[in-house]
Amino acid sequence: MAAIIDGKAISEQIRQELAAEVAAMKQKGVTPGLAVVLVGEDPASQVYVRNKLRACQQIGIYWEDHRLPAETTEEALLDLIRELNRREEIHGILVQLPLPGQIREQAVIEAIAPEKDVDAFHAQNVGQIVQGQYRFLPCTPAGVLELIRRSGISVEGKDCVVVGRSNIVGKPMAMLMLHENATVTICHSRTRELPAVTRRADILIVAIGRAKFITGDMVKEGAVVIDVGMNRDENGKLCGDVDFAAVEPKAGHITPVPGGVGPMTITMLMKNTVTAARLAGRKK
Ligand code: GUN
Repeated sequence: MAAIIDGKAISEQIRQELAAEVAAMKQKGVTPGLAVVLVGEDPASQVYVRNKLRACQQIGIYWEDHRLPAETTEEALLDLIRELNRREEIHGILVQLPLPGQIREQAVIEAIAPEKDVDAFHAQNVGQIVQGQYRFLPCTPAGVLELIRRSGISVEGKDCVVVGRSNIVGKPMAMLMLHENATVTICHSRTRELPAVTRRADILIVAIGRAKFITGDMVKEGAVVIDVGMNRDENGKLCGDVDFAAVEPKAGHITPVPGGVGPMTITMLMKNTVTAARLAGRKK
């Protein structure tokens, strides 16, 4: 029987801490501000954006909701980003991905001022993370690390296996665990003998986007299992990359889906926005 890591409760606790911090900043005349940009009408993106704006309201962050039509040109989006870069009351800029095909994602990411890049996707922020000197961490890996810390799990010297190598989750996740002094292995679709590798993990972090991919025989007894996946199973029910029913009896700690990593991602975006506002204030 595993201890269930309650991402909803931990996320709520951090949001309360952030709300107190924002209230104190407002007393000193600084209100953290986030601009969210959504191009087109992707239904999943609309849900994400709505949840992000709701979190801003809950914490007291000033927010702007920029909606652009699906046929928006890259130049028009870059113009908006340049304007948001210039505006002092906006401390964080988040362009919801994916973008329509006519817009190059990389050009957009690189146009955001690094000090306002609360996703931490800009090359300068990625480089700083690799060096271990960073202003922001990307939201999902930061959320995973916070779940691990607040569950009292020690990382130092542990074998950590990350399954998935995306720029948004797998790669930065591996780097954060390395900074925490874990021994890190990154696996992906071409990894040979994957179950043998995942069975070595004291801490197994899974972000490959395949429903119930990690089965009971792939997990060591007592392992910490963190599930970043968000999929629909054969019945249309939300499920993670881990087969929860099969893995939970073996694991020492496990995150559920929903209610595990998911709620943390937006909370860490809020935290990055507050950090951006604090750093902007210090520069003046
Ligand atoms: N789309 C899916 N995940 C993310 C994210 O973390 N940031 C942004 N900007 N878009 C996303």
